[in-house]
Amino acid sequence: MDYKEYTIKKIAEITELSQEAVSSIVEIPPEQKLGDLAFPCFILAKTLRKAPPIIAKELSEKFSGDTYIERAEAVGGYLNFFYNRAQFTKDIVEEVLEKGENYGKSQIGENKTVLVEYSSPNIAKPFHIGHLFSTAVGHSLSRIYKQLGYKVESLNHLGDWGTQFGKLICAYKKWGDSEVIAKDPINELLKIYVKFHEEAEANPALEDEAREYFKKLESGDEEATGLWQHFRDLSLVEFKRVYDMLGVSFDSYAGESFYTDKMPEVVDILREKNLLEESNGAQVVDLSELNEPPCIILKSDGATIYATRDIAAALYRHRTYDFHKNIYVVGTPQALHFKQIFAVMNKAGWEFAKDCVHVNFGLVKFPDKKLSTRHGDVVFLEDVLNESVNKTLEIIKENSPSIENPEEVSQKIGIGAILYTFLKNSREKDIVFSWDSMLDFEGESAPYVQYSYARGKSILRRSNITARDADFSLVTTDEEYALVSQLNGFLDAVKDAAEKNEPFYVNRYVTNLARQFNKFYNNCPILKDDVDENVKKARLALVEASCHVIKSALYLLGIDTVESM
Ligand code: ARG
Repeated sequence: MDYKEYTIKKIAEITELSQEAVSSIVEIPPEQKLGDLAFPCFILAKTLRKAPPIIAKELSEKFSGDTYIERAEAVGGYLNFFYNRAQFTKDIVEEVLEKGENYGKSQIGENKTVLVEYSSPNIAKPFHIGHLFSTAVGHSLSRIYKQLGYKVESLNHLGDWGTQFGKLICAYKKWGDSEVIAKDPINELLKIYVKFHEEAEANPALEDEAREYFKKLESGDEEATGLWQHFRDLSLVEFKRVYDMLGVSFDSYAGESFYTDKMPEVVDILREKNLLEESNGAQVVDLSELNEPPCIILKSDGATIYATRDIAAALYRHRTYDFHKNIYVVGTPQALHFKQIFAVMNKAGWEFAKDCVHVNFGLVKFPDKKLSTRHGDVVFLEDVLNESVNKTLEIIKENSPSIENPEEVSQKIGIGAILYTFLKNSREKDIVFSWDSMLDFEGESAPYVQYSYARGKSILRRSNITARDADFSLVTTDEEYALVSQLNGFLDAVKDAAEKNEPFYVNRYVTNLARQFNKFYNNCPILKDDVDENVKKARLALVEASCHVIKSALYLLGIDTVESM
């Protein structure tokens, strides 16, 4: 039963407006005591030539209560609808209990494919905190779209091509020690790469050598290709270790290299459409009509660049997946790049350009210097994850010394705490990393939400009655009702998150749900001896339903729950 829909229908009947019109203006009142849904009457003031409070009053007289809506009250210029609490609670809680983890799903995305490209680190370079931000947002978005019935393909557009591989091969041939590299591949490859730059300053001939190696790589030379493949394999093993910690996996790892043989076609298409022009020897697409700098397609030496590979990738994705949306979860510093390539695709007349979206995000700042090992200005991601898990372990050992599996629990909480931090605010905001707030079990944090879940599960374990067939007219206090209202809002939060590509709607939702749950828990005794058996049963049903929804919502953020902590 969709109470909002139902109420909209009723409002449409008494106002003679269309359901769409009503739907676009109804509001959720700011306070529960003002009702569940409000209709702002000023919208009718012009046509009816009456003041909104008078309209509200007249409409309230036209409406008589029914099974689902107890009453409608005029307050100022608003007509406020109050659901029948007992009926509402019964309908929502029973639906959650029946559907369990399938509650809050929808089929609106049926037969549509959404591509979510995220993480996309660079081979032989560290997986840095910005890639983690992308991973948190992208992984969450993939789950959010799946929840709405879309077919989701998660893509990791690895940075595995470019002239830097010529330098790396050159450096490896000069100073590489395969044994040392095998032990700590990314750090060691980074070291020789840095050494290359240092040496090349004194000896520019190295640059020429590197260019030769890249040419060899491009033409499929066996040795160069073998080394490149080796670097790629080594890096992927490291990346996958991080992905495993996060529970992330990809449907495709087709990185930049995958598109090398697909670029000539793009260049041909752009040339045929007369979009290419020469500029200082390079071939570019002019974007001055958009006030953007030109997009370089071919460098003066004929080599393609990052943008060319992205344009080829978009065309490939269109042909392969016929996507409804092609989402790129990449930091704000690349905003211009995406504007440019989307504009080029538009100029090429590719319809699907409008379905390509750059989902950008802000910077990560570390005010606490002791936070983590810093190598240059790169914060190593694995260090951050491990540090979070270790700090959690300390807290857990102190707070719950008798817990059976402290390592496993700390893993889930420590990683959850980091993911939550990335998804806590609108993604364009910069993030300031603070262990104190991240691991504050009482604040706005993953541990707080996870703890609420564990608390619910502990109640359910300690009770020995099943929560089925409860009498929900016994659980209609404000705290109980607010909790059920919140449960009912799950799908709306998921839809908002997808519409704006903002997982934080789900994050805010689940945090509020945990808050309501704790208020309910503090105000409504459940297992105390003097609680009536029927009340106990109905309250247990609320607990069970809350646990289901907290778990599902956290899942959408990529965060695991623990049964006790
Ligand atoms: N590898 C790039 C980087 O680390 C991100 C790739 C973004 N995706 C894309 N299709 N350009 O900055």
